[in-house]
Amino acid sequence: MIIRIPQLPIGEESFCFPAMFDPIEKLKEHLRHPSVSTDSTFKTGMAGSRDFLTGLFKEMGLSVEVVDTDLHPLVLAKREGDPRWPHVLIYGHYDVQPADPIDLWNSDPFEPEERDGRIYARGAADNKGPQMAHIAAVAELLEENPDLPLRITFLIEGEEEIGSPSLLPFLKSRKEELSEADLVLLSDTLSPSEDQLVVTVGLRGIVVMDVEFTGPNSDLHSGLHGGAVYNPVQALCEVCASLHDADNRVAIEGFYEGVTEVEEWERQELVQLGSDEEAYKKFLGIEALKPLSDYSAQEAVRYLPTLEFNGIGGGYQGEGSKTIVPSKAMTKISCRLVGNQDPKRVGELVKQAILDRTPEGIRARIEMGHQGAPYLVVPPGKPNAPKDSPELLTKAFEATRAAIAAEFPKPPLFLREGGSIPIIADIKKTLGLDSVMIGLFLPEDNLHAPNESMNIGVLKKGIRVSKAILKSLAR
Ligand code: BES
Ligand code: MN
Repeated sequence: MIIRIPQLPIGEESFCFPAMFDPIEKLKEHLRHPSVSTDSTFKTGMAGSRDFLTGLFKEMGLSVEVVDTDLHPLVLAKREGDPRWPHVLIYGHYDVQPADPIDLWNSDPFEPEERDGRIYARGAADNKGPQMAHIAAVAELLEENPDLPLRITFLIEGEEEIGSPSLLPFLKSRKEELSEADLVLLSDTLSPSEDQLVVTVGLRGIVVMDVEFTGPNSDLHSGLHGGAVYNPVQALCEVCASLHDADNRVAIEGFYEGVTEVEEWERQELVQLGSDEEAYKKFLGIEALKPLSDYSAQEAVRYLPTLEFNGIGGGYQGEGSKTIVPSKAMTKISCRLVGNQDPKRVGELVKQAILDRTPEGIRARIEMGHQGAPYLVVPPGKPNAPKDSPELLTKAFEATRAAIAAEFPKPPLFLREGGSIPIIADIKKTLGLDSVMIGLFLPEDNLHAPNESMNIGVLKKGIRVSKAILKSLAR
């Protein structure tokens, strides 16, 4: 069956697109492209993923532009129309995390496999599956109603997993055009279970850095020199250990400046989420949790900033022993931020604290990496909601609540999230747009880990939720 879209601007060649595709099969097709953004050996996979999206959007009758950047191009696809129609910007990312360690996968990470109602593959949940919910929703809607009075722009980037270095410059360069949108819709956040979705109303910010400590100019025989020099591995461990106190608070003056109070309604939502710390510990395989005193684990993840060591190394790592004083030690640090914490300021504070604490005899080199600001949106109707919330945002939140309630056994919760999507705060800052974020991945989906998967039932319901929201926004 061929469907014509009559509402397209006169003068353009008439677009045709085939009957609705199968979203699950399309998702599998997308997952076969290994689009790992951080590793340059995956260039072909990145291009394949981009071509896949371009082809799909064209099939849907959208006008597609692949926008070149310094690194990985982004895909912009538009369904244009009457400028008086509401305009939704749908965000997603086509890049994925590396699949390593590959031996821990039960099937090929880039050959999607369906088992027990799930699709297993790298990127299935983060973000190709949830993104497909919105793509399929738009395709179905346009097939059912080719005249749908709604403008839609898809912005799918290829650098989310590496901190979106190209997206802010892109937003700035196309500010006028993009800020025509009324709001952003996306699914790249977590929900607690297949019975209950979360509408994410906050993301933590982030700042990352690499730290390298250098002692002697080469590894030394520890019999000849051990005891005479400051060992850089030891020095790094001492400095790292000094960055938290016994309560697990970050021990850097000023670090918590900008952390804001949490509203009572937010606490209520979290109470409704419920918490089973025993089950959580079991899930993680640990015997104790360590949130700051006065905070539950659930609260700490959402309401507090952190300073984490993502990795540490130095000296000999091979088999057996090697009696040396190593020349170098290194660590990677990331801080998650909340409230009004400024990533640049916090990054500087941490850097300065490390430099100040580096002992004599050791040279520290600190390289700052990507950063992103925290994001908060207060759903209209909550006591602290801004009085001037745009009408369409109010409508979108209400439609989201209703659509989720209609599809899932439990009503949605409106919660902050511990993860980061730095571009969401950038979109707010540069384009003035707020985001409606619908969590479509689950705790058991193994994001960034071996055996990542997407729950097919949640994906199918997600399509219906997205459709209902878009339908209700259309004028
Ligand atoms: N989809 C995640 C963000 C996320 C993770 C939200 C968990 C909610 C729960 C996203 O793709 C991601 O991993 N972001 C990175 C950002 C970083 C690389 C700038 C993150 O949070 O570590
Ligand atoms: Mn993601």
